Amino acid sequence: MFSSSKPRLNGRAATFISCGGGCRAGARGPRESRQAVQAMSLLLAIAPLLVLAPGRGGAQPISGVVTSSKGPEAGVWVIAETGDLPTKFARIVVTDDQGRYLVPDLPSANYQVFVRGYGLLDSPRQAAKPGQQLNVKVGIAPDARSAAQVYPAAWWLSMLTLPDDKEFQRKFPMDMKDCFDCHQVGTKTTREIGPNSAPGLRCS
Ligand code: HEC
Repeated sequence: MFSSSKPRLNGRAATFISCGGGCRAGARGPRESRQAVQAMSLLLAIAPLLVLAPGRGGAQPISGVVTSSKGPEAGVWVIAETGDLPTKFARIVVTDDQGRYLVPDLPSANYQVFVRGYGLLDSPRQAAKPGQQLNVKVGIAPDARSAAQVYPAAWWLSMLTLPDDKEFQRKFPMDMKDCFDCHQVGTKTTREIGPNSAPGLRCS
């Protein structure tokens, strides 16, 4: 029943460089360059102090290695989440080729850490604190059905077989656009009738 095509996760971490109001395209005037040089010199002068500053704001990482029965797991998500902060907080990273991960700059709180990846069963949630080393063991999904539980909603949606009716097939994607205003379709809640499904629920 499952298609053999399987979504792939690119195991590369992305770096985002944010740009405040100050970065404009175009040439800088001599005054701006001088200011930039002055700012740079100041930064260089205080750099040793920044490196030596104790605690550095208290935000510390949780790090470790993810392995399964097949060895280190590369390119799988490691999710650290907590309900201790004023809003629910989660940070997600991806393991490198040797299965190593590092969830950086975590505000001080008690975290639950688990691993999710294609072809794996979600690992049990483990408690961890910033600054801690936590190695995680994760199980291989025994069959296609259990592996597919974490596939993206769109993958599930793409398995729908539409009625053999040209007009219906033309209209269907347009109708679905209305759904996406509020939520994905194909998620566990929208693809299964479970104990939490409300009979007669109208969502729009
Ligand atoms: C205006 C926002 C909105 C739109 C548009 C919308 N939904 Fe929903 N939908 C919701 C919300 C909110 C819930 C969760 C309701 C709850 O849990 O009480 C939900 C829940 C659902 C559920 C789960 C129901 C259950 O009993 O578990 C399904 C299935 C669903 N939506 C399908 C769709 C489809 C298909 C479309 C498009 C045709 C759509 N929705 C459009 C807001 C929307």
